[in-house]
Amino acid sequence: MPRSLLSIDDLSKTEVMEVFNQADELRNAEPGPDSIQPVIGSLLFFEKSTRTRLGFEAAAWRLGVKTLVMYETKVNGTMSAAESLPDTIRTLDAFSSFYCIRHPDSDVFDEVTPYTKQPVINSGNGYDEHPTQALIDGYTMWQRFGEIDGLSVSFVGQLKYSRAAHSLLRLLSKFSDVSVKEFAPQQLQVEGYTEGLTANGNTFSSHEQPEWGTEDIVYVTGFPPKNPDGEFPQELRDRYKVTEETVNSLRPEAVILNPLPRIDEIAQEVDDLPNAHYFMQNKLGLFVRMAVIQTFCLES
Ligand code: CP
Repeated sequence: MPRSLLSIDDLSKTEVMEVFNQADELRNAEPGPDSIQPVIGSLLFFEKSTRTRLGFEAAAWRLGVKTLVMYETKVNGTMSAAESLPDTIRTLDAFSSFYCIRHPDSDVFDEVTPYTKQPVINSGNGYDEHPTQALIDGYTMWQRFGEIDGLSVSFVGQLKYSRAAHSLLRLLSKFSDVSVKEFAPQQLQVEGYTEGLTANGNTFSSHEQPEWGTEDIVYVTGFPPKNPDGEFPQELRDRYKVTEETVNSLRPEAVILNPLPRIDEIAQEVDDLPNAHYFMQNKLGLFVRMAVIQTFCLES
């Protein structure tokens, strides 16, 4: 008969020993032919997330993988006694087959990977990288245009603190003849990607003033409120905002992508235009996340 356990005083010595013996039995049990050993993925989010956290959970469920979700908006905010991340990982390793981790520190994986042999999927580390978002973005481009080689991609907004843009620039570097432009205020332009892009015959140029009309893809990075440079003024946000007027300057087949969440970088009037592809991009994310779990986290 199921019952509650609220105090150790609820148990007699015999019942204590029953629990010990039961635990031993379970520990030593040989998995039978019909026994299910579920794969369990731990999704550890130390920063806010809607799409990546719930998207990985949905992807895991679709694959029959169970998930444990730990959602901390601030490291050690509610974790036991200010536990260190290595201790958390060592604890969760007793039952986790893989991890999806988002954390505000860009070097978080230096702290994590020495303490687990399980696969770790970077779900966003500080301002550094967001590789699964880049795979979703690349997949959306590939689905829409049939190939990535030869595409023309214009990034608009601030790229400096966009981990999604950083990973996407790295992904595009693996392809050839891609023409990449960034339209961003000079102080918020990216550095360090030209060499990687041009090595494969791609081009990269930075401009303060958007010049529309030649691109296949407009990738909108926006101006997130949280950044080391303080708040971005409204005038700046408006200057790089994608509106219906922007869309009218594009080629009809050009598509607009955005990793979301959107703040105000794309006017809502754009949502119903055929060029708006960001909700489709989000939809495709489910399958890319399933593919990531299957490729990196499951035994083949
Ligand atoms: N694109 C993305 O990473 O969204 P979330 O912050 O909601 O996960």
